[in-house]
Amino acid sequence: MNKLLKKSLLWSLAAITAMGFISMGCSSNGEFGSSSDAAQKVYVAPGEHDEFYGFFSGGYNGQMGVYGLPSGRHIFTIPVFSQAPVNGYGFSEETKAMLQTTDGFIPWGDAHHPELSQTDGETDGRWVFMNENNTPRVARIGLDEFKTQEIIEIPNSAGNHASSFVTPNTEYVSAATRFSIPMKEGSLENMDVSIDSYKENFKGTISFIKVSDEGHMSIDFQIMMPGFNYDLSHAGKGPSDGWSFFTSYNSEEANTLLEINASKNDKDYIAAINWKKAAEYAKQGKGEMIPGKHYRNYIDHEEGGIAKSEVIEEVRVLDPRKLEGIVYFLPTPKSPHGVDVDPTGQYIAAGGKLSTVIPVHSFAKMQDAIENEDFAGEEQGIPVLKYDSILHGEVENPGLGPLHTEFDGKGNAYTTAFISSEIVKWNIEKTEVVDRIDVYYSPGHLMIPGGDSENPDGKYLVSLNKITKDRYLPTGPELFHSAQLIDISGEKMELLLDFPTEGEPHYAQGIAAEKVKKNQKRFYEIDDNNHPHATKSEKETKVVRDGNEVHVYMTTIRSHFTPDNIEGIKVGDEVYFHVTNLEQDWDVPHGFAMKGANTSEILVMPGETLTLKWQPKKVGVFPFYCTDFCSALHQEMQGYVRVSPENSDTPISYSTGQ
Ligand code: CUA
Repeated sequence: MNKLLKKSLLWSLAAITAMGFISMGCSSNGEFGSSSDAAQKVYVAPGEHDEFYGFFSGGYNGQMGVYGLPSGRHIFTIPVFSQAPVNGYGFSEETKAMLQTTDGFIPWGDAHHPELSQTDGETDGRWVFMNENNTPRVARIGLDEFKTQEIIEIPNSAGNHASSFVTPNTEYVSAATRFSIPMKEGSLENMDVSIDSYKENFKGTISFIKVSDEGHMSIDFQIMMPGFNYDLSHAGKGPSDGWSFFTSYNSEEANTLLEINASKNDKDYIAAINWKKAAEYAKQGKGEMIPGKHYRNYIDHEEGGIAKSEVIEEVRVLDPRKLEGIVYFLPTPKSPHGVDVDPTGQYIAAGGKLSTVIPVHSFAKMQDAIENEDFAGEEQGIPVLKYDSILHGEVENPGLGPLHTEFDGKGNAYTTAFISSEIVKWNIEKTEVVDRIDVYYSPGHLMIPGGDSENPDGKYLVSLNKITKDRYLPTGPELFHSAQLIDISGEKMELLLDFPTEGEPHYAQGIAAEKVKKNQKRFYEIDDNNHPHATKSEKETKVVRDGNEVHVYMTTIRSHFTPDNIEGIKVGDEVYFHVTNLEQDWDVPHGFAMKGANTSEILVMPGETLTLKWQPKKVGVFPFYCTDFCSALHQEMQGYVRVSPENSDTPISYSTGQ
């Protein structure tokens, strides 16, 4: 055993080293011989823990991947916007409500940007938020149990891309519509109009979601905006705290062939929103309450951890043409994508996809320009500031297709260049490139732990690459997206590691493991289980018929179900298995799977109760079993349900061990 372990360990070290050689071999500033150093820097010995947690959005898989850094080990997946058979999320009776929307039950989502909660501008390890791009929603995930605890829908929105970015004390989470749609003046109701009436009828909205101390989310206000496409956002900090910045493209307001028609203007805009002022207006009752039906789904910990849905009918909308001083446009070249505020809060960097420079705006200059009304004009009633008046500088030669920037807290910024496949490091004060490194291939976002907060951990950078091609063993036409870990502790960047990710990670967040580890729940206290269908001991187990509904109050403990023989179920019944796991130990879940059930299995954590619904359609005896390899006698953890014809008079009976 020991020998085997050693052998495989040596082998994996050799593999890491070889990988290092290959990647360093083609790197622009790589040197042969440094690969063993690289391997050592990412090597986390068996039994040891990584220094950082990494939270990566799953893109179109709708989930969130959890990775250890620097090892790049995939350590968990948190189900968020998509049903997940791995634990029954979105399938079990307790979690179905989480995926409820005004469009009905939606089993899938397109997750883009995770964002850690912050206190005083620093990541605090309480929650991570994540947006859904397709059906506009924002989720809050509790980092005490690594579970999705709340999802709020965004009304008057058609795609939620510029989300979910937090203000420095998590007062608000931002959201904005990516696609503008026709909205009726006054009510913002979607309209049945010709698509080519875009310029006349289409509008956008930017939303601010208030977060309470307990984490409850509510839409405090929406701001009505011109019909552009709103792309990304980041909140101000330090001197710029109280402001948020949103990039937009398609200021041309094109409705077809956007690759040409939305690329005409030399400059589009960053919308600078004074959210503190807007929040004050909202508090004073300014703006209008309009119909804006949306769902808020949350896990009710007071009542058994069962998800509940609340429907909210109205939303407050502020019109910046009537409420002065809440929105200004900063002209920005050209079709900007990312917008990132440096740790000092003084500089705002934009990633102009089609721009040859990285424009960096100065917050102080922006304030002066607003004070002096140094406007270039206005756009649909919103003042446009003069580019030259607000510019801190332009970074020349930043690579082709600059997209996103993060910071190391030592005066440097790092920007991904999608087309030229590189990360470019530049000095913020001097707006000068100081280093560059090739990545493989075509990076979208990048992540430095805390790199969009006031206090970055400037040790590692992860490049989230969109194209994988030849980096791993080929897997047919589809390849997992590749992430690359880069050491940024020195003057020169050094490529350390490639690791595959799941889905299509857009953005990611990283945090020192110590901030999260200490809050971990290891099991749920059985005495505190307040689920209405909990069964707290084997003596209390029962099967109860109520018309054609049958409720099975079942328990699990290594290695049996109680009851494990059930009779008296009939075709056409609705059977609810309420399974309580009586274990009180870390990492001992039991699963429950029923043959022919039209849901997934459920995976019940120690001390928890979950419910699987089954509608038997055929006569016979049907097995159920535990899906999680819980003990040496896991395979014996099974039972039978006898299903009789609809008109039979087989009485309900149940037992274990008789
Ligand atoms: Cu319980 Cu396997």
